This record gives sequence, C-alpha cells and structure tokens, in this order.
Amino acid sequence: MLSKWPLTFACLVMCGCSYSSSTSGTGIATGTAVQTTPGAMPAGAGRGAARGAADPRIAPRVPASFPESWRFAAGESATFAPNAMAVSNSELASRAANQILERGGNAVDAAVALGFALAVTWPEAGNIGGGGYMIIRLADGRTAALDYREVAPSAASRDMYLDSAGNLTDRSVTGHLASGVPGAVAGMARALERYGTMTLREVMQPAIALARDGFVIDTALASSIRNSERTRLFAGASLFFPGGVPLASGTRLVQPELARTLEAIAANGPAGFYRGWVADSLVAEMQRGGGIISLNDLRSYAPRERRPIQSTYRGFTLLAMPPSSSGGVTMTEAHNILETWPASAKYGSAQWYHTVASAYQRAFIDRNSKLGDPDFISVPLERLTSKSYAAQLRAGINPLRATPTRVVDSTMQALPREPMNTTHYSVTDSFGNAVATTTTLNGSWGSGVWVRGAGFFLNNEMDDFAAQPGMPNMFGLVQGEQNAIAPGKRMLSAMSPTIVLDSANQVLLVAGAAGGPTIITGTSQVILNVLDHRMTLADAMRAPRLHHQALPDSLTIEQGGVAPAVQDSLRAMGWSLRPLRALVNVNAIMRVRGGWEGVSEPRRSGGAVGH
Ligand code: DON
Repeated sequence: MLSKWPLTFACLVMCGCSYSSSTSGTGIATGTAVQTTPGAMPAGAGRGAARGAADPRIAPRVPASFPESWRFAAGESATFAPNAMAVSNSELASRAANQILERGGNAVDAAVALGFALAVTWPEAGNIGGGGYMIIRLADGRTAALDYREVAPSAASRDMYLDSAGNLTDRSVTGHLASGVPGAVAGMARALERYGTMTLREVMQPAIALARDGFVIDTALASSIRNSERTRLFAGASLFFPGGVPLASGTRLVQPELARTLEAIAANGPAGFYRGWVADSLVAEMQRGGGIISLNDLRSYAPRERRPIQSTYRGFTLLAMPPSSSGGVTMTEAHNILETWPASAKYGSAQWYHTVASAYQRAFIDRNSKLGDPDFISVPLERLTSKSYAAQLRAGINPLRATPTRVVDSTMQALPREPMNTTHYSVTDSFGNAVATTTTLNGSWGSGVWVRGAGFFLNNEMDDFAAQPGMPNMFGLVQGEQNAIAPGKRMLSAMSPTIVLDSANQVLLVAGAAGGPTIITGTSQVILNVLDHRMTLADAMRAPRLHHQALPDSLTIEQGGVAPAVQDSLRAMGWSLRPLRALVNVNAIMRVRGGWEGVSEPRRSGGAVGH
C-alpha cells in the first residue's frame, strides 16, 4: 500500500481607482490598500453592493478574542471597496479581475478573467489542465452551480493504480496516468457564455498579457517552484528549473507557449483547447509518458450545470456545490447538526470544539461512504441535507464525550509529506452579482506533467477517486465503492465554493478554500465565525481553525490556536488532538455597509483588489 496520507497536511494552507492589499511571501503589501476601521462598518454610499440598508442581523460585529499564543491578532482590518471586489491567492490575478470589473464587466466576466490569469500567475494550482466548480448568484435572484470537474478517461478502469500484487502504486499521483480529462476551459467558457456579458477574447486579455510579457516571481511562487519535486521530472523543468536551478524570486517568468495556448482559446473558444493543435499536443504528451487521455476524451468533455444546494442556517441561506463535489452536502449536514443547538457555544471554548468537531465527524462519515458522481451512483441528497436527519445525528452526540469513528488505521501514520494546492477565488460586482470558484490540479503542480508545446500542467485528480476503496488517498480520506474509478466518472471532490445570503436575500458572504478535505471545514468555519460569532471578516479569517474528517479519528487544531486548558478539556473528553502549523487557505468577501470587504488568506499569499 502506498503511503500517501500526510500529503494532506503539508497542503492544508498550501487555497482607475482601485484598492488592493496583498500578502506575499515577502510580507510586503503592494498597491494601495484602503482598509476599514477594525471591527467597524465603513460608511458611504456605494453602488450595487450598498443598495438598501445593511441587514441589522449582520451589524454590529463583535470583537473577537484569540488565545495569547495565537499568531494572528484580532481586530485587523480588511480591504474595502465600495463597488466591486476580487480576492484570490494571486494579487496579479485579482487585479486582472478588477480590470474587467472596472471596464463594466460583471462578476462572472471578472471571475473568468481571474481564472485564466491564475493559470499564468499561480501555476501550481490555477490551471487550464485541471477542473473546478463555480457557484453564481445573480442580482436578479438566479443561481447556478457549474461542475467542470475532470472525468476519468474512457480507458480508465477500477483497479488501474494497483500493481500485480494488488497494492496501490503512486501512479494516481505522479506522471501521465494520474490525470483526469481537464474541465477548466470548458467550464469557464460555459459560465461566460451563460452568465457573462463580455467575450472570451476580452476577458482573457489580462491572462494572455501576463503569459506573453511575463511577471515577476514573488517569494511565495519561488518557494513553491523550489519544492515542486514532481515538476522537475517532466518537460516543465526546462522552464521552471533552467539548468536544473529553480527560478528565484525577482525573476521575470515569461510563458510564450502558454500565451499561444491562451490565444487559441480566446480565438476559438473551448475548441481551441479540446480540438486542434492544443489537444494534439496534450495527447502527444500522454503518448510519450504512457497516459491514456485520448482526442475522443477531450472532444467529449462536457461541463454540467447543476442546481446549487440551498440550505438555511439560523435564518441565513447558503448556496453550495452539489455532487460531484461533497462540499455542499457535507457542510449542510454539519451546519444542520449545529443548528439543533439554540445558539452556538462560545467561540474557542472546549464545548465549541466538541460540538463543531462532532458535527464534522458525522458529516464526513456520510461523505466518505455515500457520495460520488451523481451520473453514476444514487446519492441520498434529500436525506443527508434534511433537518430531521441532522436531529437524529445530534441525538447521538454525547455533550461530554467524543465518539470514536472507529479504530484508527495504523497505515496512516509514517507517510511522506508533500506540498499540494488548490485555489479559491471570490468576486462581487456593483450590480449585486457574486461568484465563488474553486479550481485545482489536486496536488501542487498536479501530476508534474507539462504539455510540451502548449505550456501548461496537467492535474493528478485521479487520486481523488477511491483508487482502492477502503484505503486512504493522499488526503487520508478513506472512501468507498461509491467513489470507485469508472470511465467518464467524476472523482468526488471537497471543493466548496459557497455564497451566503442574509435574511433580506442579499449576498452577505462569498467564500471557499483550498486544502483537500479541510476545504469543507475551513469554509464552514469562516461562515460560522461571521454568522454565529459575528466576527468581522478579518477576524473570521484569522481565527484558529479545526478539522475532523471521521478518519483518521483525530481532531486537527492549529498550533498556538487552542488555549492549554481547552486542550486539556478536549483530551479529557476523549479527543485525540493533532496540532498542525496551519489549516486551510480561504479567500472571502463580505458585504458591509457601503460596499465590500475582501480578505485573502492570512496564512498564505494572495490579494484583495476592488474599486
Ligand atoms: O477536489 C478535491 O477535493 C481535491 N482535489 C482538492 C485538493 C486540494 O485542495 C489540495 N490542496 N490544497
């Protein structure tokens, strides 16, 4: 059995007049940061976002307090903009989105611009060789959930990653066999066509310019390149490790091959990727390395438009991603359990950790065994997301004791660590539209395979299947038959782009995350911090986080984030604590009086840019 589990936790954080703030590996803020008074609602009459009075339910915010040992302070400010906002893990990509917003584009136009720009400036996770999900909420009340997850190639088979002795190999992670058929280009093009106002050519201009003219690598990207062992093994090494040396910060990265590919997409739409010379290059790359994606697989890829999972939580409405992502179901199930308590326990208390972790644990038990691609299996969606089912689950929670999931599998212990990354971006506009998108190659830099001549990385999303049902994948997720490999099937995801509406049905929050299964719990906690604990977005993002995914049966906490007395109480309740330096990479926007606040992940690099 291949040891893959702790890969997870290296990646859990590892996600005119414009206003921007960024944190990069240098820690130096760039651009003009316009920040709100800590903890206060900015005044002013913005367009769109500010229409109508702020919902009294969301004001005032309550100052948060974190343990003394915690590395972030409460009461920090956020980036404020009166009209529109874009937040991502790359400030350059957020700027690209803001350019489109300033030209009058809507949030969908800007999100698509941002997605393509991320493929250039954040190539470890931003992509055209992977897939993702997008939740859209339009000002007129329409909603959409776009599923452009990769699918297993038609030549894929259930046991394709087992060796002759029946043991799991690492071919679902590294190399040409690890990729699903990419969905990103088809998905973004579909979103634009259905809900955007601009052409692909217009919204892709910033990305094309960034690829063609280059941009300066910052310390965050330099460090990611340095640590990307898989990339060294394949053709991308010529660009990212010239002469065997990783590109350093301060270097201008020009990507002429990627620029040509983006031009082809801008000119021909999805056909520029799924047919013609780009498709030929991808298939030639597959053939060089024993991969199985065929021209026919590419031609037949189709994104799916689904209905968002719409749930309620204490009077707010959440729009979240349905299967093939597990994000919306799992979050809804956990929130429904938590809602059975009349009010949330005090943030950071042992009772809070206990109830939140117990809810996540139960929701993940269902996630891991009952969810999969709805085109292939029957998913008990109504039951899992119902309040009555949550009440049953709640009845099984002992208020004083943790319930073991089952005996922890000892194979999950001494496994290698490896960086990985996904990326989430949130966009709002002055018309009242909002977009939450999460996209990924799965591991950082995907399978490591770079398509020669076309200049982009391919995903290793096949590892999200249960390559051997019952055995942990690279995130330690122990999943069942529902998520076994089959040709044309989408692998179950945890990506959780989410939009929260207030009681007046206005967009309140746009959020989502990177971090494998912690995406679900991290996104959920930012939402709970705002709704239950009335934190400002800046505090909600900085607050210490927890994670529980049923198996392994441990409660993951952030180092320094839990007061020693609370840790003692949790251990006494039977929780096995697993401290990690940082959990989850969230990028979020919140509506405030007069406009929007944006916060990129304080634990990672990123930028919030608006106008
Ligand atoms: O779809 C999923 O759930 C995973 N492929 C996400 C991977 C991820 O978030 C890795 N990074 N931080």
